[in-house]
Amino acid sequence: MNILVLGSGGREHALAWKLAQSTKTEQLFIAPGNAGTQNVGTNVDLDILDFQSIADFALKNEIKMLVVGPEAPLVEGVYDFFKAKENLKDIIVIGPSKLGAVLEGSKTFAKEFMFKHNIPTGAYEEYTQKNLQEGLDFINNNKAPFVLKADGLAGGKGVVISFNQEDAKKELTEMISESKFGTASTKVIIEEFLDGIEFSVFVLSDGTNYVVLPTAKDYKRVGEGDKGLNTGGMGAVSPVPFVSEALMKEVDETIIKPTVNGLKKDEITYEGFIYIGLILVDGKPKVIEYNCRMGDPETQVVIPLLENDLVELFQHTGNGTLDQAKIQKKDKTAVTVVVAANGYPESYPKGVAINNLETNEDSIVFHAGTKMQDGQLVSSGGRVLAVTSFGNNIKETAQKSFDLAEKMDFEAKYFRKDIGYEFY
Ligand code: AMP
Ligand code: GLY
Repeated sequence: MNILVLGSGGREHALAWKLAQSTKTEQLFIAPGNAGTQNVGTNVDLDILDFQSIADFALKNEIKMLVVGPEAPLVEGVYDFFKAKENLKDIIVIGPSKLGAVLEGSKTFAKEFMFKHNIPTGAYEEYTQKNLQEGLDFINNNKAPFVLKADGLAGGKGVVISFNQEDAKKELTEMISESKFGTASTKVIIEEFLDGIEFSVFVLSDGTNYVVLPTAKDYKRVGEGDKGLNTGGMGAVSPVPFVSEALMKEVDETIIKPTVNGLKKDEITYEGFIYIGLILVDGKPKVIEYNCRMGDPETQVVIPLLENDLVELFQHTGNGTLDQAKIQKKDKTAVTVVVAANGYPESYPKGVAINNLETNEDSIVFHAGTKMQDGQLVSSGGRVLAVTSFGNNIKETAQKSFDLAEKMDFEAKYFRKDIGYEFY
């Protein structure tokens, strides 16, 4: 079948790389893609939010499966757009309906969903301009730290943790009254501070049945030792060593099952990935966030560890037959190291030449912000490449990725040399 992947990051390169390996794949298109996706399929210059153009392309090229990488098209309703049209509705769309995507698009919606379905998560309060004073009073009457979250999508920047009352009050006021995160912070939640170790689980659901992919942990801060600004993610490891079978069973019983069943009960159509960000507090898993898509760079470790045919898994997802699928994983550890442009996530150079992209049998280089310019590979974004390696333990595996990142000839390169450090 012909398949179209939407997106242009390392996540989409990893998905396309895996889809290209399936014997079921005939033509594979990536819109808009990057210099890496060009090697596994055909890049198409489409705006991922222009659903009519995507639909026209899909019809013209007999696309039978649309795989949506990032959240924006899902939040804008790409699933619903396809399912509402007679000539498009048979195309499998991997991703939830617009309502399902609100699990990621609105923190208050996600919180209400979790409380309704008894899914463990932190307590919270909700504030807008109307009850801002109550929010300030709440801060005055409680002890730091305060976790402030913009309700809407804020490009991964909408969470602020304040360690004293004055900062928290200033933040809350800026978020609500001064639109610090635009309309995303018209509403803000103050969440209970949860102290623990984080990890993520990735679920693929057909709306009734689901499979669970390997666990992962990402490294969001730009600096070594988890210091500095938040980024989209500077690296990831999979599987997460401290997640035992017993813990996964508990996560399944108390979080995954109630989530999938809750979506069904609430008649929220969901045929896609649920990324569940978790935190272990006193040995008990709680949900920090839901995302309606795979993670980036978590995809670059989770997907290469799968032995399954990804097209087949997606067919089951679209056809409601995931109960017939069984996840098969490589018995290996994977570590990915993001090679960014120096200065990311603030200002950084673009158009810098990249040469000497070496790989070997233990490693894959996924592209993110890259493009070809006059026959030369150049950087075009903040996160430029992700080097994924496989091995038997995290330390040895991470080293393989560091070595290849070191060898790259890319003048603006910056990468963390401690991905997975707590497991060395
Ligand atoms: P989110 O965008 O919701 O994933 O939040 C970003 C990061 O903020 C998380 O990965 C956590 O490290 C941190 N965080 C979010 N919520 C809490 C919380 N309630 N307590 C402590 N840390 C949190
Ligand atoms: N790496 C975090 C995310 O994809 O949301």
